[in-house]
Amino acid sequence: MCMLAIESSCDEFSIAIVTEQKTVLFHETYSQIATHQQFGGVFPEIASREHVKQFGYLLEKAKAFIHKYQISALAVTIGPGLSGSLLIGIQIAKTLALYYDLPLIPVHHILGHIYSIENESTIIYPCMSLVISGGHTELILLKSADDVEYLGRTQDDAVGEVYDKIAKKLELGYPGGPILDRLAEQGQPTFHFTKPKLKNKLDFSFSGYKSAAMNHIYKLLPMTEEDICNLATSFQRAIVHDLEQKMCEALEMYDVKSVVLCGGVSANRDVRKMFQRLKKKYPDKKMFHPIPELCGDNALMIAQAAKHYKAIRDKDILLSLDCKPNLSIKEFLSEYN
Ligand code: KG4
Ligand code: ZN
Repeated sequence: MCMLAIESSCDEFSIAIVTEQKTVLFHETYSQIATHQQFGGVFPEIASREHVKQFGYLLEKAKAFIHKYQISALAVTIGPGLSGSLLIGIQIAKTLALYYDLPLIPVHHILGHIYSIENESTIIYPCMSLVISGGHTELILLKSADDVEYLGRTQDDAVGEVYDKIAKKLELGYPGGPILDRLAEQGQPTFHFTKPKLKNKLDFSFSGYKSAAMNHIYKLLPMTEEDICNLATSFQRAIVHDLEQKMCEALEMYDVKSVVLCGGVSANRDVRKMFQRLKKKYPDKKMFHPIPELCGDNALMIAQAAKHYKAIRDKDILLSLDCKPNLSIKEFLSEYN
């Protein structure tokens, strides 16, 4: 008995086939990074067109496994994400569900990131998760898989988005996170960044960091390599310090048994070091973190999350299934579970 999962919410198209015992039979992801490089960010229309071009090749590769093993369920990201991109994955999943007469489990993308750690471990509830990606920065409390609460979220840009925008301004390439992360290793923290003050102390705001970085850039133009490295180091230190403070604050306020750090930005070297510090500070809590290959968008995380949520078996509901670009976790739990 296996599950086939699809993730296509942004610029990655990914398929995973996993057994109930968590054995990964197939997992491949097509990234469109090369296509979007020239725009310095994801171009939504092109992302969905690329998915249309690419999914056939991936499905063809997965086909051998579909025939060899008995697929008993399908899973797909229903939202949040880019509508055009989501729709491609959903349409493929619906077609497979109808053709093979299989149940289909819609999955919330952020819950997918959180459950990415279940490829190797199992979440212990209550669990607190910090999700840091290109579209999200959220502190989430999971009392169970279906009792989930937002504790804090960004009031403006997501942390990965700011990395990407600063890198774009510096014409360093896309995605900016890994590039600035590498440069941050070589610089000194010579630039000042002010921490924003927020009403809810567990909320985040990154637009101030972005403006400060842009101001530093304008003042210094033309920048030397040393300037760029120093800016990357200063920015990264400020951001990681902010994330660390919020996590400590939240862990003092909520008595949880485990902590999950996930999302594309959790691949960041300094963010990982920060998580190691937290592990030492809170030895009684289980601290989970996906392996770097599973930090970004992938279908394996969707398969792991799907095990906790309900399948659609009714043909009419299946046929009417649509994408939900702005789906909150609360809406997901009440509408699909
Ligand atoms: O989770 P993800 O693959 O897609 C979304 O759901 O958004 O995250 C992508 C984001 C991009 O903004 C990228 O720049 C950022 O994660 N990222 C990083 C690093 N690796 C990826 N940011 C900082 N440091 C990194 N090493
Ligand atoms: Zn994501």
